[in-house]
Amino acid sequence: MTAIPPHLVEAANELLAYGRSMQREMSRYEFGIQELLTKLRILRDEISLEDDYNPIEHLSHRVKSPQSILEKLQRRGLEPGLEGVKQLDDIAGIRVTCSFIPDTYRLHEMLDAQPDITTLHLKDYIAEPKPNGYRGLHAIVETPVNLSSGQVPVKVEIQYRTIAMDFWASLEHKIYYKYDKAVPERLLSELTAAATTANQLDQRMKAIHQEVRGGS
Ligand code: GTP
Ligand code: MG
Repeated sequence: MTAIPPHLVEAANELLAYGRSMQREMSRYEFGIQELLTKLRILRDEISLEDDYNPIEHLSHRVKSPQSILEKLQRRGLEPGLEGVKQLDDIAGIRVTCSFIPDTYRLHEMLDAQPDITTLHLKDYIAEPKPNGYRGLHAIVETPVNLSSGQVPVKVEIQYRTIAMDFWASLEHKIYYKYDKAVPERLLSELTAAATTANQLDQRMKAIHQEVRGGS
């Protein structure tokens, strides 16, 4: 049996060590998500008990896939390694789907008021939708995670949407991929018009809800 040249063994060991540190880094994002999901579930359950009202319809979450991390690093001209990854704000993501617009702001404010959550950026695409009609409230927050080795801060992107905003964004996303990002002009105008309709629905539902709940 021929011996493996030492430089190849060394390279393989380096690769393994790099893989392990990458895995460690990615697991922190998963832990950050779990911390924030627990906080959101506590708020949901407490508000349901206190007010007999559920402000959260649906919670989903994901850690960005290695392939889309690499694509984003390339798009931004960042180094394809741990240092580049640390500069991305949306490796960990949570989507909070609410029934009504005021719930999105209320939940964000309640999380932001917690002492171990810092909001690093807030983009209010509800007050100022994107030109295509996209709406949602995006918060990049940082929260500490307690590991066996000590505390580490973890960044998570939280997207708050209403059911109507989420319905629109899911369809727009599918169409965008179906046409490989070259969506016909007519469909784009249809989508923008549908976003206006979704917003009108949100406003009407909010008004009805407030009337039924006595303005609360
Ligand atoms: P990304 O490179 O996409 O992360 O953009 P960004 O870092 O400038 O952040 P932005 O807040 O604009 O968007 C972040 C995320 O919001 C996206 O990854 C989508 O999940 C969602 N989003 C933003 N714009 C749109 C849109 O026009 N359509 C849909 N369907 N989703 C959108
Ligand atoms: Mg993003």
